[in-house]
Amino acid sequence: MLGLGTAAKAQSGLPFGAPIAIPPSDGGTINGPVTEYALSLQNGTTEFFKGFQTDTSGINGNYLGPVLRMRAGETVRLKVTNNLKEPSTLHWHGLNLPAKADGGPHQVIQPGEVWSPEFKIHHVASTMWFHSHMLHETASQVWAGLAGMIVIDDEVSDGLDLPSTYGVNDIPLVLQDRRFDRDGSMPYVISMHDEMAGMSGNVPLINGTVQPHFSVSTDKVRFRLLNGSNASIYNLAFSDGRSFVQIASDGGLLGEPAPLSELLLAPGERAEIVVDFAAGERVVLKSIGAATLPRARQGMGMMMSAEQLPQFDLIEFRANDRLNSSGAVPKTLASLPAISEKDATRTRSFLLEMPGMGPMRMLGLGGGFTINGNSMDMQRIDEVVKMGETEIWEIANAGPMLHPFHIHNTQFRILDRDGQPPAPNQAGLKDTVVVNPGEVVRILVRFDNYADPERPYMYHCHILEHEDAGMMGQFTVV
Ligand code: C2O
Ligand code: CU
Ligand code: CU
Repeated sequence: MLGLGTAAKAQSGLPFGAPIAIPPSDGGTINGPVTEYALSLQNGTTEFFKGFQTDTSGINGNYLGPVLRMRAGETVRLKVTNNLKEPSTLHWHGLNLPAKADGGPHQVIQPGEVWSPEFKIHHVASTMWFHSHMLHETASQVWAGLAGMIVIDDEVSDGLDLPSTYGVNDIPLVLQDRRFDRDGSMPYVISMHDEMAGMSGNVPLINGTVQPHFSVSTDKVRFRLLNGSNASIYNLAFSDGRSFVQIASDGGLLGEPAPLSELLLAPGERAEIVVDFAAGERVVLKSIGAATLPRARQGMGMMMSAEQLPQFDLIEFRANDRLNSSGAVPKTLASLPAISEKDATRTRSFLLEMPGMGPMRMLGLGGGFTINGNSMDMQRIDEVVKMGETEIWEIANAGPMLHPFHIHNTQFRILDRDGQPPAPNQAGLKDTVVVNPGEVVRILVRFDNYADPERPYMYHCHILEHEDAGMMGQFTVV
């Protein structure tokens, strides 16, 4: 297996030798009343390590996809051609959209086919993403590279002085890890243990570049962080412990910047942060693992949580000797509607369970990956929700691992975790929420824009191995 030592020398013989790849930005083309994006799911090869060609998949490229740039209020059409040799789907994670446009397991695109969903962007400025959502194959297809970022702009974001020059001081960072073999391949071969713990790697990839560096040219830089890994949870911090501010969560800008020195980001979650740099300095963004988390949050099995929260040096920032000044972080960002649980008309409960570990598992005891005792079934609608009604969803985690719970077609708000209000950086719009071992998280949910009595949307754990193994359910909006 190629390890981190090799990774560090991947491109230039030095740690952080390779400059980070910045995905092309794709604003689509105007076609009458719609903005149209041409996307091709394709196989390719990628040279992650010098002299090694790795088989990968990508969207309009060899690994990962472009950053799709959209605007609030516009209508988009995504023309997705499947040039792979296998069926796939493309899901627009975080977006409110018609069920037939969702790109979940019911919208399969056969090889050679084109799928063209169209919908209006009912969102504020935000960082969303897209990825394969093929039933039982999501994990392997995302592992191979079928994912990309979406950036939505609106008048509020236009009017703020935040760093916003793409590729200069507004930088997408797709955080992933992968396990490579000696021949440079990264096959998706999972053991029973990987199925339980989720597939994690020994090599960090940022935008598909092994442990890269980024040359900083401005005194403030905004990073759009996406945890696009299959299973790893990154507890992010800088090597010098510096603080930074989070300005946006999954679904858009926070009310005000949240100062942090550590940021926990689970698969599926996004966070926009702004970091100050001094001329000439170097600093590394790391995933520091579970050690600093409150003990109660480290899980019943320390081993498991250590594995869920890997330690990596992710990327080095190298500041130029002279930095241009780039805007400021305003004291207030967006005005988020106040939330009141009194608005809720009902409460639904979701219990996340996974198979027993060790000997229990060997004996075939302990059930499967389930929500409310049921494993995902394409033919079963688990919940029927009324459009426009506010509900409380109460998500309980009975198992030893952390599960990031994601709901399609909505941005929700966290009410509390085990009765405690959310931290300021989690008080904004969310579509994926961490549910720690033994914890109960209550969220306020509403589905505003699109309904379909027939076609379901999904809710699921965003650890892709857990999702593929059945920790997923279906709901319709009527
Ligand atoms: Cu990010 Cu159901 O997906
Ligand atoms: Cu989604
Ligand atoms: Cu899970």
